[in-house]
Amino acid sequence: MVKIGIIGASGYTGQELVRVLARHPKVEITSVTSERFAGAAIADIFPSLKGLIDLRLSELSVQRIAGESDFIFAALPHGTSMGVVKECIKAGKKVVDLSADFRLKDPDLYERWYGKHSCPDLLQEAIYGLPELYRDEIKGGQLVANPGCYPTGAILALAPLLEQGMISPVGIIIDAKSGVSGAGRNPSMTNLFGEVAEGLKAYGVAKHRHAPEMEQELSSRAGKQIHILFVPHLIPINRGLLSTIYARTNGELSTEQAYGVLRRRYGKEPFVRLCSPGAFPATMEVRGSNYCDLGVMVDERSGQLIVISAIDNLVKGASGQAVQNMNIMCGFPETMGLEQIPLAP
Ligand SMILES: NC(=O)c1ccc[n+]([C@@H]2O[C@H](COP(=O)([O-])OP(=O)(O)OC[C@H]3O[C@@H](n4cnc5c(N)ncnc54)[C@H](OP(=O)(O)O)[C@@H]3O)[C@@H](O)[C@H]2O)c1
Repeated sequence: MVKIGIIGASGYTGQELVRVLARHPKVEITSVTSERFAGAAIADIFPSLKGLIDLRLSELSVQRIAGESDFIFAALPHGTSMGVVKECIKAGKKVVDLSADFRLKDPDLYERWYGKHSCPDLLQEAIYGLPELYRDEIKGGQLVANPGCYPTGAILALAPLLEQGMISPVGIIIDAKSGVSGAGRNPSMTNLFGEVAEGLKAYGVAKHRHAPEMEQELSSRAGKQIHILFVPHLIPINRGLLSTIYARTNGELSTEQAYGVLRRRYGKEPFVRLCSPGAFPATMEVRGSNYCDLGVMVDERSGQLIVISAIDNLVKGASGQAVQNMNIMCGFPETMGLEQIPLAP
């Protein structure tokens, strides 16, 4: 059994890691941390876990966690994570970091969007943890930077179309909607029920921190620098992320041809499902699962391609993908522990 430490286990992605890993046949969770709830049983702060896991949260000590575990998930806010991850790597542990701290390759870009990086040397070493793009690199990685939730949905939708030159890299628009759990469990006024329920609002318009991450990965697919327009929205659901993406086609392209590109690229992928040509995914159809569902259509009148992706932000957008990466890093079957069927009504 691989012993697992989860740093930041009292947050939403930490809870989701526990939910998925508690039933994983090849691992045992040995340490879970929280500063606010140190000493409490994890099932007391997440009652959905009662009777399933008997572990107490403890304060963060990398030395202790490294002594108790073989593999570490860091589910901390960006900025806090980098120093902790560096210590875990020094202790020789394999790490999946769920924060944004190791996703960008360029330290200047990190500084522009997030602030100064304390261990820029690790940025080149970290593998961007999108298995559908970097499976071979993840296999040998010690540090995997788990992608952001919005980038996961957008990159999976666009990568094959850019790789095949089917769409123009200029003028791509990503209009995305996320549920409230995307903002984490720490209370804030903007995320109160009264502020979110029965409404819909855009935020971070054209300046959200996930834009440079998408641009880094989409540019590498297109073979040239890409600038996208990204507008995220907050919607009154707990989990779920739907991205509606618009791109100009390169010459004549039919819906069937665009669908064929996605099918050839993802036909054997266990966690990418395609809607039939002209049909589109829904957050409810992936809820609680590690699937990314994609639907594509070409509007021949306007010459625009529309590709829509749906994921559960806490599963394929965070903790499920983190476990998928762990499975690859540990040589387990990639789908192990991740076979949950979506929780449609
Ligand atoms: N939510 C999503 O959908 C999602 C998706 C993809 C990626 N992510 C990323 O994953 C990371 C975790 O997100 P989340 O939504 O789980 O956040 P969260 O619910 O706010 O949880 C944050 C966790 O970090 C701990 N923590 C905060 N500051 C700390 C510090 N200074 N020292 C030690 N522990 C500290 C908290 O513990 P306490 O109990 O002490 O507060 C808590 O366990 C973030 O970087 C986020 O951007 C989130």
